[in-house]
Amino acid sequence: MVYYRMMQLDIQNPFGAPVYFEEILSSTMDESRILANRNEPHGTVLAADFQEKGRGRIPGRPWIMDKGLNLSFTILLRYKDFSAIPQALTLRAGLAVLLAIEDFAPPLGDRVQIKWPNDIMVDSKKVSGILTEGDGKNMFIGIGVNVGQKEFPEPLQNRAVSIFQALNVEEIPDRFDLLEKILGHLYSELNTGFSSWQSRLTDRLYKKGEMVRFIKGHADSGQMVEGRLSGIGPKGELLIIPQGEKDPLSFITGELDFYPY
Ligand code: BTN
Repeated sequence: MVYYRMMQLDIQNPFGAPVYFEEILSSTMDESRILANRNEPHGTVLAADFQEKGRGRIPGRPWIMDKGLNLSFTILLRYKDFSAIPQALTLRAGLAVLLAIEDFAPPLGDRVQIKWPNDIMVDSKKVSGILTEGDGKNMFIGIGVNVGQKEFPEPLQNRAVSIFQALNVEEIPDRFDLLEKILGHLYSELNTGFSSWQSRLTDRLYKKGEMVRFIKGHADSGQMVEGRLSGIGPKGELLIIPQGEKDPLSFITGELDFYPY
């Protein structure tokens, strides 16, 4: 990255920090670490038109989007130490993305949900993914949103959707308008003492009350739990009541089976 040439987007960032934009880079996750090392402030955003090595939450799974149509960015959040990092940061960022999508595309309204722990769904298809990384003090929240993607490759066709597709409109929506709205909601979620995130999230939880299959730990652990998804705990953990039992088990890592149970 050539910093002295880095462009800034002219959009509102309530964190009061720059919003950088690069046409092509490896991954905004990696490049944001460089921004952190050169003391860029809390709330600095780095967006890219295209990432050559965009990555998802599951190791080895790339995050690929067509150039110039979608949103890929990382926001750097700086905390004085580990204890100051807000709980359930990924889920709360997800809630901010969900609310921003609703603001941005009102017809999608009730069609947007959060799939624990890091996916935003529209009509049961993934519209956005969130990847949170950290080094104990700096947190890097990477957000990818399918805004104007016109089609997806075969394996993703039934699992992914863009806002453009879901709205069924002629014109590609303005992705930087959405970015501004995401920053606004994220700022409110993290700074204005919204203590009700747990219940607001639970209300919008994908498959809440339904039978699900859950893979414990790593995606290939082979350890499966089947039961009813009952909600989210105070630390953002997923609660599942196993079949034939009364009390929920709670999980901090794992993967919900994507397909309907
Ligand atoms: C997932 O769904 O597994 C998370 C996807 C996260 C994608 C975003 S795009 C911006 C940032 N840079 C990356 O390389 N990944 C995240």
